[in-house]
Amino acid sequence: MTPLDYEYLRKLLKERSGLDLSPDKQYLVESRLIPLARKVGLTGITELVQKMKAGSEALTSEVVEAMTTNETFFFRDKVPFDHLRETMLPALLQARASRRSLRIWCAASSTGQEPYSIAMCLKELGAALAGWRVEIIGTDLSQAVLEKSRAGIFSQFEVQRGLPIQMLVKHFTQIGELWQLNPDIRAMVQYRQLNLLHDFAQLGTFDVIFCRNVLIYFDQDTKAGIFERLAKMVEPDGFMVLGAAESVVGISDAFRPFPERRGLYRPNATRGARPGAAMPQALRSVASAAR
Ligand SMILES: C[S@@+](CC[C@H](N)C(=O)[O-])C[C@H]1O[C@@H](n2cnc3c(N)ncnc32)[C@H](O)[C@@H]1O
Repeated sequence: MTPLDYEYLRKLLKERSGLDLSPDKQYLVESRLIPLARKVGLTGITELVQKMKAGSEALTSEVVEAMTTNETFFFRDKVPFDHLRETMLPALLQARASRRSLRIWCAASSTGQEPYSIAMCLKELGAALAGWRVEIIGTDLSQAVLEKSRAGIFSQFEVQRGLPIQMLVKHFTQIGELWQLNPDIRAMVQYRQLNLLHDFAQLGTFDVIFCRNVLIYFDQDTKAGIFERLAKMVEPDGFMVLGAAESVVGISDAFRPFPERRGLYRPNATRGARPGAAMPQALRSVASAAR
């Protein structure tokens, strides 16, 4: 790969997926794209870049997908799912008692372990959610991971990472060396392709948004823009969950950290308020009399 090839790929990936590669990540590009080049019958990255420049959109999409990192596992990091069970769901069950609906979005759902972990948590609530309309939507840029998610089939290795054995026994069926999630859990999650760089307002509003371990690949401006748009999609009393290495602090004030719950945020209600709107009535009168 020539330095010009690398610059072309860096720029393209930033535009297409938000991936912000530093100048020293050639090895990463080579390790992902040389196998892809060979698979499609090309000699290497230089030829791959030439084909992309010639306008092969299908190849460009394959390159963007090949450069995504899809690492995930069931109940990843545990803590967010404790927050879901102990903080978010109790608050929302109470707040939505008359409406009886719950919408949860997993905004970079990879191969499905995260939305299915959420679905299993909700299933545990049993009768408490009887008669509720519950929607869990998993979205990702990559079509390949969405196809795997929809099938709900996981290897022995994948079900051994993070999934409690009781949940494996309860919610999966063994098919040879693989494990398939049972239809009731699979039916709780709908999957759609969605690029976080594009408009996502059409998804509507949510009570909870999980947006974990994807923003780490983006630069500050891209993160800030996404936080801004996510904040418009979370109900004022809803929640956003970030990954263990992610935070809004120093990037955006669209969300505020939920006290004593690492990785948990709420939309910032005080933000954008008219000057003086948060002031007590008595002080407001004094202020306006002084003007
Ligand atoms: C490391 S995985 C995180 C999966 C899961 N959220 C978790 O924490 O286990 C990151 C996912 O983000 C997706 N992704 C990368 N860029 C994206 C973009 N611009 N829009 C939507 N998804 C993207 C990748 O395809 C990948 O599946």
